[in-house]
Amino acid sequence: SASEKLEYVKSKIGKYPDFPKAGIVFRDIFGALTDAKACAYLRDLLVDHIRESAPEAEIIVGLDSRGFLFNLLIATELGVGCAPIRKKGKLAGEVVSVEYKLEYGSDTFEIQRSAIKPGQKVVIVDDLLATGGSLVAASELIRNVGGIIVESLVVMELVDLEGRKRLDGKVHSLIKY
Ligand code: PRP
Ligand code: ADE
Ligand code: MG
Repeated sequence: SASEKLEYVKSKIGKYPDFPKAGIVFRDIFGALTDAKACAYLRDLLVDHIRESAPEAEIIVGLDSRGFLFNLLIATELGVGCAPIRKKGKLAGEVVSVEYKLEYGSDTFEIQRSAIKPGQKVVIVDDLLATGGSLVAASELIRNVGGIIVESLVVMELVDLEGRKRLDGKVHSLIKY
């Protein structure tokens, strides 16, 4: 069942206190991805959620870098395309940029203007929602190039940081800490 799959995935996610900085409890998705069954269960949970919640999705956008583990995976299952939002200087052609802060630092995200067609329905996917800085910045970029965000989906959410409050629209997490 879905709840058994979820418990299994949860049991494989790593927990590292004081990484990458003192006071941060790092939740490590890679602990789950080395396990074949956890990989398949994660795929099922993410894909089944989007089939239910956002069947109108036309493109799946993943956030550099851990979001890339999921955007292509979900897109191929749903029969839609995918696109990246990348950290600065990596994407060719005309790009739109935004600076942002996250739980333990700051950075710049970029999207290719050609990645999203005006009016296209977008699902954003990432491994983890902390302060929401990354997803807020990603949302701004997608809107800037004409996309319509139908859902933001993460594997894990750090609920106490209240990142969800900074986001509009549907936000879904499989696992809450
Ligand atoms: C981590 C994580 C999320 C983001 C969440 O990415 O993968 O993308 O932080 O934090 P926030 O909600 O406070 O913005 P990171 O920038 O560390 O890079 P990575 O995915 O390349 O490891
Ligand atoms: N990104 C931001 N905060 C994080 C955390 N606590 N664990 C893993 N990735 C993160
Ligand atoms: Mg990330």
